[in-house]
Amino acid sequence: MGQRFLVTGGAGYVGSHLVAALVDAGHRVTVIDNLRQGHRAAVPPAATLVEADIAAAEPVLADGPWDAVFHFAALSLVGESMADPFRYFAANAAAGMGFIGACARHGVRRFVLSSTANLFGTPARIPIAEDAAIDPGSPYGESKHMLERALAWADRIFGMRGACLRYFNAAGADPAGRLGEDHDPETHLIPLAIDAALGRRGPLAVFGTDYPTPDGTCIRDYIHVTDLASAHLAVLPLLDRGSVTFNLGNGAGASVREVIAAVEAVTGHAVPHRIAPRRAGDPAVLVASAARLRAATGWTPRLPGLRDIVATAASWRAAHPDGYGGR
Ligand code: UFG
Repeated sequence: MGQRFLVTGGAGYVGSHLVAALVDAGHRVTVIDNLRQGHRAAVPPAATLVEADIAAAEPVLADGPWDAVFHFAALSLVGESMADPFRYFAANAAAGMGFIGACARHGVRRFVLSSTANLFGTPARIPIAEDAAIDPGSPYGESKHMLERALAWADRIFGMRGACLRYFNAAGADPAGRLGEDHDPETHLIPLAIDAALGRRGPLAVFGTDYPTPDGTCIRDYIHVTDLASAHLAVLPLLDRGSVTFNLGNGAGASVREVIAAVEAVTGHAVPHRIAPRRAGDPAVLVASAARLRAATGWTPRLPGLRDIVATAASWRAAHPDGYGGR
């Protein structure tokens, strides 16, 4: 008999890949998602979907016990958070703290938080280790930092163990083709480059070619979304001994131009693109040190190669030109 897990935001991009991994491993999963960004079709039939905001999670939490809670539900656009910071503080930080408190009251012992590399602003040292200075690059990153702090108090006062997993750039799609990336609006580099290559949208804007990197474009650590999911399973046993924080990436970076080249190689089409000004708030280089996670759990990414990542994203996109087909 598997364990019983609650996943907020489980109909979203990263959350749905975790739900699939949990169901595949024989666990029982309940998803809470308001479906404003998530997709009903991204939740497998074997999971139970409760269409609700996390503010209304109390009855679901009361229907425990839960072996762990995974909290993905959030607004997640860096640029949008710069334009509307208090929407992010309310939706991510305030609502998330209410949810963390409700979990503690209902006796949850293990809580896994989707956190972000946007905690590190412009980091002094690459690759970025867990003890790098926290200097959130946006209200979005700040809202996640607030939840990391709230979890530290939930452990100290209630003994609810927390895992803060700071994702670098989630990318790719379920290799079995069941799930993929479908944001509205789409702002992420890899799906935009794929759609440009497939002629589904205009040229890709390359945001800045004057960064202090070898080819002048920004470098990011793209990590396959199913490797992110497997890391969640790997950290769970650690929570029986205490709370943990991990940076979650491959430990290798790729530039925007390297991503374009990978998309061209995988799709066989040129990626039409134009040079555009820098996007506000983009640091030149964000690459994770995954050393702590590897040492603590033995986790290793199965699909670390950029071409493999792009290939899974491109094949899902080719099979689902309209994504999940509307909300
Ligand atoms: N980029 C372009 N053109 C585009 C879109 C992106 O050149 O049309 C560039 C960006 O400037 C950046 C890189 O491609 O250098 C990656 O951009 P994404 O928007 O795909 O991803 P970000 O690195 O901005 O942000 C992602 C998540 C955030 C998270 C962050 C952590 O979306 O939620 O990683 O590093 F906080």
